[in-house]
Amino acid sequence: MARGRRLRGTAALRRLVAQTRLAPADLILPLFVKEGIDEAAPVASMPGVAQHSLESLRKAANEAVASGVGGLLLFGIPAVKDGSGSQADAEQGIVNVALRALRSDLGDSTVLIADLCLCEYTDHGHCGVLRGDAVVDNDETLRRYAAIAVAQAAAGAHVVAPSGMMDGQIAAIRGALDSADRVEVPVLAYAAKYASAFYGPFREAAEGAPQFGDRAGYQMDPANSDEALREVAQDLAEGADAIIVKPAMPYLDIVSRVARAVDVPVAGYQVSGEFAMIEAATERGWIDRDRAILETITGIRRAGADIVITYWAAELARRLNS
Ligand code: PBG
Repeated sequence: MARGRRLRGTAALRRLVAQTRLAPADLILPLFVKEGIDEAAPVASMPGVAQHSLESLRKAANEAVASGVGGLLLFGIPAVKDGSGSQADAEQGIVNVALRALRSDLGDSTVLIADLCLCEYTDHGHCGVLRGDAVVDNDETLRRYAAIAVAQAAAGAHVVAPSGMMDGQIAAIRGALDSADRVEVPVLAYAAKYASAFYGPFREAAEGAPQFGDRAGYQMDPANSDEALREVAQDLAEGADAIIVKPAMPYLDIVSRVARAVDVPVAGYQVSGEFAMIEAATERGWIDRDRAILETITGIRRAGADIVITYWAAELARRLNS
């Protein structure tokens, strides 16, 4: 008999020789909180995911932490949006209210990560502020990111995660945090973030679709790989403590290259479209949902990600515990 099959004979043998193991602590759960709603509102394109009210957010966060997930990634959806995304750093802005509530409920028992971007907060849906000619103004946006980072840290975020793909954003944010005496707050940089069709369902969840144009002027071109290494190197040089590759499944080669190239933690973000594909195929009876979830997340870890950001984090954590 050829050697390959001898170690696959029983489930116990396969378990013994498995090279990739999943643990709840490696998983981060994204959560959405919306201002001005009394109960959780389901997101149609993401079965099982909701826009939370402040109360339902607290409950979901508590349950997720009890399941053992390693961290929570929070997105805020304000009732009123404007050109500069003022609710992102307003003290009474929903994301900052929610961060204070979660930090007071959970203390340091989990890692509270604040997504740091403007697209959920601007009326035009772009990730930065616009110049007159409707182009995203890089450096004006950096000033907004700096203020948001300080506000989120003050509200209780353990970590800030800038996702807007502006040039120089990590340096701007690191500088602002340091000047505000928040030297201990790490920056988890969405360093290699592609302009992806797989963000579609998220834009319903976060109500942040661009009202005109697209994000191809700042997010990366799916055709490129070397550029990811340049973006990652730039973010590390600017002070990033850990980095994200996003999306994950169509970019496992990038996860793998980046993981080999750096010595900081690497997270793969299994985005909304990756989630929705499997849920939709499940609804049609076309795929074995639980196996597909396990297989995709194992694949992201096997490619080299230390951490996986996934909407199935709490569910999978509970499965891994049982
Ligand atoms: C931007 C942001 C996006 C996602 C996370 N942060 C959307 C975008 O860039 O259009 C996508 C996450 C997902 O699809 O699950 N703040």
